[in-house]
Amino acid sequence: MIVLLVTFLAALLCPVHIVESSSMKWCYHEPACNSTTWSQTYPHSCNGSRQSPINIVTTSVQGNSNLTSFNFTGFDDNSTFLRINNTGESVEVTLNGKMTVQGGDLPGIYNPVQFHLHWGNGSASPGSEHTVDGKQYSMELHILNVHSKYNRNVEAARAANDSTGLAALSFLIEGTNEQNKTKSWGILTSFLTQIPSSGDTTTNIMNQISMNSLLEGVDRTKYYRYRGSITIPNCNEVVIWTVFKDPIKVSQDLINRFSTTTFFKASPSVLMTNNFRGVQPLNGRVVTSQPSSAATHTISIITVLLLSSLCWL
Ligand SMILES: *[C@@H]1O[C@H](CO)[C@@H](O)[C@H](O)[C@H]1NC(C)=O
Ligand SMILES: *[C@@H]1O[C@H](CO)[C@@H](O)[C@H](O)[C@H]1NC(C)=O
Ligand SMILES: *[C@@H]1O[C@H](CO)[C@@H](O)[C@H](O)[C@H]1NC(C)=O
Ligand SMILES: *[C@@H]1O[C@H](CO)[C@@H](O)[C@H](O)[C@H]1NC(C)=O
Ligand SMILES: *[C@@H]1O[C@H](CO)[C@@H](O)[C@H](O)[C@H]1NC(C)=O
Ligand SMILES: *[C@@H]1O[C@H](CO)[C@@H](O)[C@H](O)[C@H]1NC(C)=O
Ligand SMILES: *[C@@H]1O[C@H](CO)[C@@H](O)[C@H](O)[C@H]1NC(C)=O
Ligand SMILES: *[C@@H]1O[C@H](CO)[C@@H](O)[C@H](O)[C@H]1NC(C)=O
Ligand SMILES: *[C@@H]1O[C@H](CO)[C@@H](O)[C@H](O)[C@H]1NC(C)=O
Ligand SMILES: [Zn+2]
Repeated sequence: MIVLLVTFLAALLCPVHIVESSSMKWCYHEPACNSTTWSQTYPHSCNGSRQSPINIVTTSVQGNSNLTSFNFTGFDDNSTFLRINNTGESVEVTLNGKMTVQGGDLPGIYNPVQFHLHWGNGSASPGSEHTVDGKQYSMELHILNVHSKYNRNVEAARAANDSTGLAALSFLIEGTNEQNKTKSWGILTSFLTQIPSSGDTTTNIMNQISMNSLLEGVDRTKYYRYRGSITIPNCNEVVIWTVFKDPIKVSQDLINRFSTTTFFKASPSVLMTNNFRGVQPLNGRVVTSQPSSAATHTISIITVLLLSSLCWL
């Protein structure tokens, strides 16, 4: 009887306890677990040499003509957003199986499984993860894609330690004073009041917005590419990063909703702000992009000069 009772209590309490303690090993907002501590708490991966995010130095970016356009399917479909979830450290939208991403020099077909956001503290402080020539943007949207061989299973891709297991599409977000700039962002942010606390989720978001409608104004043939990691523990170095050059413009009022509506997983409650990791060392990695027309221009001038000098011989 006692044995049964103990087993029952253990089954009841232990999983909860394990989830609680393991998820509090890292955070953004407390000195004891903020991102400066991750390399000690997770030394195998968060202290690796190919970490994300990074600062992109545009003068060091190298041209690569393999970086062709992408083929996105399902991005125009209004029925791909399944639910929106306060994960305790971000806000995440779960995507259904209708979407694919290929092309863009990715080694195969990838399946989008979720997107989530990183932000600062309203208009006062920016909160993108990647920076460009030191400039930090207001927010950053990450679409997380899993190589098709892992069947939409992020954990399987992480466990395989496959450097091309995941592909992240990153969109920088800039505030604009133009009201109602994007109706879709108004719809997306209207759900935040339904998910103030960690674990809150609502499925009432179907058939209203598509992925494309959130990405308006971005030329998706222009992007930076490098190899890096997931930006939260375990920081696995399994990600092909694509950072699009054009920012998405979102009304500042809508950006402000993120840092004033949702709360971190914390007790007592703390507003979710500054949920981004700082930039990591490049350690010799090279960021590539489409060859610039300037570089192509220089090459053609050199060719013309070479050809004309041949004429003199
Ligand atoms: C983490 O906390 C330490 C100690 O308070 C602080 O110096 C550091 O700036 C914090 N880092 C971040 C990224 O918040
Ligand atoms: C992290 O890596 C650096 C360089 O490889 C090393 O000097 C440092 O001790 C490591 N830190 C931890 C906490 O493992
Ligand atoms: C472009 O792709 C080809 C074929 O896969 C490869 O041989 C070449 O090294 C790539 N070029 C660059 C700059 O990565
Ligand atoms: C784009 O991807 C879809 C789905 O995989 C495929 O059916 C289609 O042929 C691809 N289109 C191009 C132009 O590659
Ligand atoms: C919400 O996020 C948490 C933390 O990542 C996760 O454990 C939970 O399964 C998610 N809930 C839903 C309904 O997706
Ligand atoms: C965020 O900004 C508000 C004022 O807009 C301020 O009261 C609050 O302390 C800030 N939070 C953080 C974490 O800096
Ligand atoms: C993952 O693979 C890299 C090589 O790509 C290796 O250096 C690293 O030790 C591996 N990490 C784990 C946890 O197996
Ligand atoms: C912007 O949207 C809000 C709420 O949807 C609406 O009340 C307002 O009239 C709109 N403003 C303009 C200039 O369209
Ligand atoms: C998606 O929904 C919007 C309205 O929210 C509508 O204007 C648009 O035509 C729909 N797109 C498709 C492909 O059904
Ligand atoms: Zn992210």
